[in-house]
Amino acid sequence: MGFSRRVQDQCWVDEAAATVSRQVFVDDGVFQQEMDRIFFRTWGFLCHETEIENAGNFVIRRLGSAQVVVTRDDQGTVHAVLNSCRHRGAQICRSDSGNARHFVCPYHGWTYDRTGKLVTTTFDQHFPNGFKLSDLSLPKVPRLEHHKGLIFGCWDPDVASLADHLGEFAWYLDPFLARSPLGMEVLAPPHRWRTRCNWKVGALNFAGDSQHVLTTHAGPLTLDPVRAARAGFATAAENSFQVSTDQGHACTLTYLAPGLPAEAYQTHPPDLEPLYTGITPDQREMLKNLRVIVGTVFPNLSFIETQVGPSEKAIIMRQWSPISGTEMEVLSWVLAEREASPDYKKEVLRKGIHNFGAAGVFEQDDVELWASATAASNNPIALQYPYSFHTALPYLQKFEANGKWPGRVYRPADTEVAQFEFMRQWNRWMQAPA
Ligand code: FES
Ligand SMILES: [Fe+2]
Repeated sequence: MGFSRRVQDQCWVDEAAATVSRQVFVDDGVFQQEMDRIFFRTWGFLCHETEIENAGNFVIRRLGSAQVVVTRDDQGTVHAVLNSCRHRGAQICRSDSGNARHFVCPYHGWTYDRTGKLVTTTFDQHFPNGFKLSDLSLPKVPRLEHHKGLIFGCWDPDVASLADHLGEFAWYLDPFLARSPLGMEVLAPPHRWRTRCNWKVGALNFAGDSQHVLTTHAGPLTLDPVRAARAGFATAAENSFQVSTDQGHACTLTYLAPGLPAEAYQTHPPDLEPLYTGITPDQREMLKNLRVIVGTVFPNLSFIETQVGPSEKAIIMRQWSPISGTEMEVLSWVLAEREASPDYKKEVLRKGIHNFGAAGVFEQDDVELWASATAASNNPIALQYPYSFHTALPYLQKFEANGKWPGRVYRPADTEVAQFEFMRQWNRWMQAPA
């Protein structure tokens, strides 16, 4: 018997058995194929508009395996350009974020403007006569589109619109991005760290891993000051939902169970709730008694809105950027309504980082397990045994059509149906013609 590490793409996701090969969580060949078939073909999140509000603001982000600088020019137009010099490829911009009139390459000094145009080199006089320096400008991400403050890019110029990509999942997303007239604001630069596990582990966890909460996070949950709500959280799966849509997006909505003290049902800040004019009555109903929503926009942007105080809600956004088959870079942002008071924002930021920052109480639990699961899976014996998603199987065809909520809506919320739907969609992308 040979312990081959070939990429066997026909049997990664076994839809009938509800299993997924471990290879897809460790293999660099799979990672390369993901770059070609998913990350260079579909929309990737770049930044929130409030991160680059003024002319000259920039942030560095990843789009697929390429690093880009996202900038705002003097006219207010956003550009995303490859962060690699046209001369010998040096990484031009070295800061995570800032404000710059020009980007000067640290190797030989080639200088690009805010749109990525090459304006001068240190040896312009030695170029051939008539040579146009602008022909050596930084390659631009050809498609950029905005949705409710989020800026996405795609390397494929022919990709369908961002609106098509988000599809009916926007209905779930929008109440967390644009419920008040001024929308949301990123409260601080994102935390950024690397974890030795595959990017899909994070994407799946946020799509709908309700089953890990009470074991992985047993420690912090015992410290939860809202004990009554904790009891409700533990028993609310029957009244809670998972959702999946055709594009591979998925989320889990956890509601408070009936019978709790009245104060437990004040889930959104009373000062801000009257401002939620940007949502429909059905979306308002969706927010009522909602303790936590956690979801993933396919492929690698996740979000969570969770109660961090008696009437404080933190919205966290996450990006799981693939580095290799067994490593990802994570970015984590904290957001709040722009209309909120400075004190409220300060408190949400502090608690958001306390829970979900690089050293957050929940993050530490997850990351240790994700990295150890990756290490324990990455050997020839373990690779023969696929991961189980069996608790999805009885529910895959049992979704509700209630006429108000789009997509496929499943109940209860403590199965693996949303995660498996994500993997089925991933498999469709990976099997698509090259
Ligand atoms: S590599 Fe950038 S100027 Fe030479
Ligand atoms: Fe977790």
